[in-house]
Amino acid sequence: SEKTIIAPSVLSADFSRLGEEVETVCRAGADWIHLDVMDGHFVPNITFGPPVVKAIRNRTDKVFDCHLMIAPADPFLGAFADAGCDIITVHAEATTHLDRSLQAIRDLGCKAGVSLNPSTPESAIEYVLDRLDLILLMTVNPGFGGQAFISSVVEKVRRVKSMIGSRPIHIEIDGGVTPETAPLVAAAGADVLVAGSAVFKGGNAEAYAKNIAAIRAA
Ligand code: DX5
Ligand code: ZN
Repeated sequence: SEKTIIAPSVLSADFSRLGEEVETVCRAGADWIHLDVMDGHFVPNITFGPPVVKAIRNRTDKVFDCHLMIAPADPFLGAFADAGCDIITVHAEATTHLDRSLQAIRDLGCKAGVSLNPSTPESAIEYVLDRLDLILLMTVNPGFGGQAFISSVVEKVRRVKSMIGSRPIHIEIDGGVTPETAPLVAAAGADVLVAGSAVFKGGNAEAYAKNIAAIRAA
């Protein structure tokens, strides 16, 4: 819908032209830029770290939405904040002391997010709701772009929406978001949609604008 936030994941961009890709996708209608950081330990893939985030920071004023798929996360929070991340999201499964990690993110002046894998119940975040600005519900097992949407998570979106009540917390969906799956999670209460392959397919500015518009229209 009009007010749904679309956050393209640069994981599906051309990394050899990353700065240019960020500029292009922002001009094509992206609201936020989603940054998938992977460590080859918490997830079976490696992407990039703070120096790359810092290198693309001056290409746009849009929100940098950083999804840390790393364990441990705490030692790197300061570096990601310094690199220019606006939102830093850690995985509940990767963080022993979640309450402490969330406080640390806010102390750095960033918005704090927590992510749950498809198999992790929403009860994992019941006692940290007041420390959260964003809840990222994975609709694929993290590690790779282009995977199939896991539809059992739609029910979890509904439960999380009712759990947060009137708190101003974003519900973000990540994995397998397309014009076909977007309406399912939006109807369940999600207000931020991450999309990698569905945005970057086609490989040029016109395609990105068309792809973003298709998700928004859905
Ligand atoms: C998966 C990442 C996602 C991924 C989404 O580990 O967190 O952000 O890039 O890619 P698509 O939209 O292609 O499923
Ligand atoms: Zn992500």
